[in-house]
Amino acid sequence: MTELPICTLVSWKDIDRWADTLAQEVLSGSGAPETIVGLTRGGWVPSRLLADRLEVKHLAALRAQHWGVTATPNGNAEITEGLTTSVKGRKVLVVDDITDTGESLDLAMEHVRTKEPLTLESATLLHISHSTYVPTYYAEDVPKERWAWFVFPWNYWEDIRTLVAKARPDGKTPSGVRQLLRDRCRIEVPEEDVLRAFGPA
Ligand code: ADE
Repeated sequence: MTELPICTLVSWKDIDRWADTLAQEVLSGSGAPETIVGLTRGGWVPSRLLADRLEVKHLAALRAQHWGVTATPNGNAEITEGLTTSVKGRKVLVVDDITDTGESLDLAMEHVRTKEPLTLESATLLHISHSTYVPTYYAEDVPKERWAWFVFPWNYWEDIRTLVAKARPDGKTPSGVRQLLRDRCRIEVPEEDVLRAFGPA
């Protein structure tokens, strides 16, 4: 049997609400930063939404990647694309979509700290309570017992294609796969989306 995680489909409405909450948290904390650093790739949309709400014009990107156990000698996350701009002496907020293990954000914070910002804080939409790294701000706390794979709207097709590919050997047909996604992942994926993820016949 293939491993299919329990999933949660996240809507744009959820994202909008979490972005509002997060912006409010930041404003009630240290106030708007001068620079927002969005982690590639999950932090890009949240960082743009936050920049809009906090009226921040200076946005930068940083890629902290978890390569999995086979790709690096120690299997840890590493910075594969450094900061695209100087943050020296600036108030910086590093943004990601979720802290799960917390490893990527922890590493990103370490990297940005070496660039000598004036202040450095972090923010995520979701924070899973088993994460070793706790962001300065988060919109929603997910108890570890409620862990799920969150299918964010900016990752929808990638996740659906991955899940469909995993379910395919057991599910065989599009309707079999759709039923497996229902039973095992506990998500309702429209038939046309499953068909699209199957690819051309
Ligand atoms: N990235 C790391 N952990 C995740 C999770 N639980 N859901 C979605 N994206 C993630």
